[in-house]
Amino acid sequence: MLSNKVVDKLRGYRTPFYLYDLDLLRQTLRLVGEACDKYGYKMHYSMKANSDRRVMECVKEAGMGIDCVSGNEVVYAVEMGFDPKEIVFAGVGKRDEEIVYGIEHGIMAFNCESKHEVEIINEIAAGLGKKVDVALRINPDIDSKTEEHITTGKADCKFGISRRELAELFDELPALKYVNVMGLHFHVGSQITDMSVFELLCQEVNKLYAWIVEQGIRIESLDMGGGLGVDYNDPDGQPLPDVEAYFDVFAKNLKIEPHTVVRFELGRAVVAQCGELISKVLYLKVNESGRRVAVIDASMTELIRPAMYNAHHAVENLDGAGRDKDIFTVVGTVCESSDNFAVSEEFPEFRRGDFVTIKTAGAYGASMASTYNMHLLPAAVYSDDL
Ligand SMILES: Cc1ncc(COP(=O)(O)O)c(C=O)c1O
Repeated sequence: MLSNKVVDKLRGYRTPFYLYDLDLLRQTLRLVGEACDKYGYKMHYSMKANSDRRVMECVKEAGMGIDCVSGNEVVYAVEMGFDPKEIVFAGVGKRDEEIVYGIEHGIMAFNCESKHEVEIINEIAAGLGKKVDVALRINPDIDSKTEEHITTGKADCKFGISRRELAELFDELPALKYVNVMGLHFHVGSQITDMSVFELLCQEVNKLYAWIVEQGIRIESLDMGGGLGVDYNDPDGQPLPDVEAYFDVFAKNLKIEPHTVVRFELGRAVVAQCGELISKVLYLKVNESGRRVAVIDASMTELIRPAMYNAHHAVENLDGAGRDKDIFTVVGTVCESSDNFAVSEEFPEFRRGDFVTIKTAGAYGASMASTYNMHLLPAAVYSDDL
């Protein structure tokens, strides 16, 4: 909960904007870093979750590598001074020029998502006269038991190489002289809170790993992706992710050779709780059905998760202390009926001008913002500057 002192400082900024608690971010990064050291794991922060420059600077100070999913992300990470040898580049649709940039800047590996992609990278690398390290992102056909739109490891998802293509690729590999298969990559979904999903993933990975080693491939790197969920309902009670419990599942269940470095690509768990979206009440109304509605000046253009996934974020009226409570629906300004932040929840009475915060918005918030309805992209305010 933000203190009154902080809220008073925020009143000088034009709403809506993201507020980042950089102390909490640093604390989270320290926790993740210490857990990595304990287990001997390597973290590549998944910058798609939040590529805000100040956030990325904290990640860099923490000494993490980066997981990118577009050429522009690779360029941004390289220009920010991340070591290219610590950058992995995933995604089902890498463009030729993005591949060229990655090769020329010597990134650690391309996480390849199809046999065709490996063939094309081989062709491009041959043209550049360079041998390129690739990791194979394999589709393990696992249900991550999370929201359907953020599950990525089931057989029919667009992500990863199928077992069928994998066998064909291994037949072809001797002819692909410009790629070096040095690793495997998995990522089965996001906002996963059921650790048995990761246990199941380990079991599938163990089978695939053993089979691939049998094919004569030395696996230097095993990238288990991201996916660890956070508590959207109780952000103040659970501000830090349980990385120990998460890593423990892998430490107990993975059966791999000692030379293989285990990597992770957490995004949400690193940045979700350090960010909140600050907004102001514009209007109050009672709609035809009798529902009391508070219209705030934030919308799906700043935070699309509720509209896109029906995701729940805790919403708080920062000016509501001591007021009577009632049931409200909190909506944004955009011309879409899905543009809601809270539906029929209890809040202290809203008044025009009240400050409202939407919590746990640091991940997939600002990075998914759009200019729909010609809205401005949201600004950011940092706790260090208050
Ligand atoms: C390949 C890959 N790695 C890592 C992540 C980060 O996932 P999360 O934010 O759930 O940790 C994603 C997210 O979609 C991803 O696609």
